[in-house]
Amino acid sequence: MAVINQDAHGGAAEQSRPIGVFDSGIGGLTVVSALRTLLPNESIFYLGDTARVPYGGKSAATVQRYSLEIAAMLLSENAKTVVVACNTASAVALSQLTATLPVTVTGVIQPGAQAAIAVTRNGHVGVIGTRATINSGAYERALRSLDPKVRVSARACPLLVPLIEEGWLQTAITDEIIMQYVSPLVNDGIDTLVLGCTHYPLLREAMARLLGDRITLVDSAQNCANAVRELLLRENLCAAGPDAGRLQVALTDQPDNFLRVAREALQLDVGDVQVRE
Ligand code: DGL
Repeated sequence: MAVINQDAHGGAAEQSRPIGVFDSGIGGLTVVSALRTLLPNESIFYLGDTARVPYGGKSAATVQRYSLEIAAMLLSENAKTVVVACNTASAVALSQLTATLPVTVTGVIQPGAQAAIAVTRNGHVGVIGTRATINSGAYERALRSLDPKVRVSARACPLLVPLIEEGWLQTAITDEIIMQYVSPLVNDGIDTLVLGCTHYPLLREAMARLLGDRITLVDSAQNCANAVRELLLRENLCAAGPDAGRLQVALTDQPDNFLRVAREALQLDVGDVQVRE
């Protein structure tokens, strides 16, 4: 639980502190976009580790070290809670972050698993994500802890992140690659597909068009935002007052083309991006 100090806990000063959000890069802006819509008067400090992206092909030990370093930077920005807006970091580093940080930590996997269990009709859930996320088995564990009888078909989709970063959100090549990855899961009988990477909500439209009504898409960004809202209410950490919250975006390297893609696709006003070492 988040206990900064007794006077501040739940007080106005603590409530006005920003929500700290991090991702390996800019994909976590999908979570920021969902948070801005759901919690417009919360301030957010977003940190994207663009100097070391992608995390998805790295070892668990490396992702854990990076995640602890990035989370420490969010604490120095006075974050009242930390949101791990990266499935890869949530899959392999969440328990370490939770055990180490003096504030509450929310990942994307548990909320995504809860939403999938709530919507599946036939009890067969598909999960797509980076290699590190899928190899960790974190989604299977989260889904089975909620429903031991659930059937899970999981697949790593390493080509999707580069396509998204290139801005190829609605192209014939992207459609074909999506179908190459997802068809085996559909043929297996899934009725629900978890977008287990914070980049993937940018392909939501393409996937909905390709998969139609028979597959329900579960967006980790939206469900993570819902979980943060519940946490803030539970911990009495909601920002007080009607003023719009501030969004600050910092990256560990110079912004590249993907920031433009994310800005346009998400219609998110990220203002001036800071660079932090
Ligand atoms: N946004 C990351 C995730 O959700 C994927 C990008 C990466 O490989 O770092 O897993």
